[in-house]
Amino acid sequence: MTKRFGEITALDGVNLSIEDGEYVCVLGPTGAGKTTFLRIVAGLLEPDEGEIYIDGKCVNNLPPEARDTVYMFQQYALFPHMTVWQNVSYGPEIKDWNREKVEQLTAEILEMVRLAERRDAYPHELSGGMQQRVALGRGIASGARILLLDEPLGALDARLRVGLRTQLRQLVKDQGLTAIHVTHDQEEALMIADRVVVLRNGRIEQTGTPHEVYSRPNSIFVASFVGGANFVEGTIIGSSDAGSVMEVLGGLQIKVAVSDVGAGEKAVLAFRREDTWVGEEEVAGSNNLPGVIVSATFIGDSMEYEIRLENGVSIVSKILMSDAFKAYTEGQRVVASFPPEKGHVFPYPVMGLLKEVEAI
Ligand SMILES: Nc1ncnc2c1ncn2[C@@H]1O[C@H](COP(=O)(O)OP(=O)(O)O)[C@@H](O)[C@H]1O
Ligand SMILES: [Mg+2]
Repeated sequence: MTKRFGEITALDGVNLSIEDGEYVCVLGPTGAGKTTFLRIVAGLLEPDEGEIYIDGKCVNNLPPEARDTVYMFQQYALFPHMTVWQNVSYGPEIKDWNREKVEQLTAEILEMVRLAERRDAYPHELSGGMQQRVALGRGIASGARILLLDEPLGALDARLRVGLRTQLRQLVKDQGLTAIHVTHDQEEALMIADRVVVLRNGRIEQTGTPHEVYSRPNSIFVASFVGGANFVEGTIIGSSDAGSVMEVLGGLQIKVAVSDVGAGEKAVLAFRREDTWVGEEEVAGSNNLPGVIVSATFIGDSMEYEIRLENGVSIVSKILMSDAFKAYTEGQRVVASFPPEKGHVFPYPVMGLLKEVEAI
């Protein structure tokens, strides 16, 4: 699908196919086109080009209520003057089902979202997470098999958001529903999704399982947006089946995974902070980059060290606080190491490196 708003192309030839029962997260920064994508699938917006098929049928001309989808947007709205029970049973009630059927379904859904005990409470008497579960229950009660979730956890506080991730996924799986969940939160997407679709400027940048997208990013943008990484500029000086060698500022030669970038060409090396070790000694078989600790930041389960390499480039190492952990202090001379197979090389971007990383 393609969708333009005046000068802006919000979606640019997006083509995606989703399996029955799949939990897909569309991940991208603000303005990537996520909401536009969901609204088109829901039937709330018309695409300029493209067709949407559900169960093999083109639904372009079907109104939202005839699409088997339910769209739940960022700021979910509950009816404030209705109880939990009334909010959830609202959809089935207006469908004119018989009383017994409505009651049975509502009771089942309240069990499912674990709010049976709060059935007579009003929304203002519930926590944010409970309200979210009521909204989900109401969406499921509509009978739609495809949940379109627009940043569904975005309005909740951090703790709750993390707790609800697995619940949300479990609910969708238990009910055999299909979910398209859009978010700008990479951690959320990696944790919940069967498949992650990275969207940038209205285009799909990469699609894959969370592990694939994380461990084999296909662009600088994905490497930086999903998981974050150290980026170092340089030139490829040779390649073999075993890997490539890159020369960076100061003449340092770095062994990396096999890359398509040809010898003599400018390139960008990306390696994860959590794949970068800090020690006093070189590590055999790894790339060893001497430098000085610039800062140490404690972040609970791990420590982040910023290291200025001898060539002036700064990198970050993230080390889990385990029994083997050893603290280093500012100004201390160290060696930063990472294994060659953890180094991903990309062609030097036409618009420069900052543009790819800054777009976040
Ligand atoms: N109704 C609209 N009119 C004009 N521009 C819009 C409209 N809706 C979205 N856009 C633009 O389209 C782009 C994608 O927006 P959106 O789909 O909301 O992104 P996201 O949900 O990923 O933040 C943005 O540049 C946004 O400003
Ligand atoms: Mg949005």
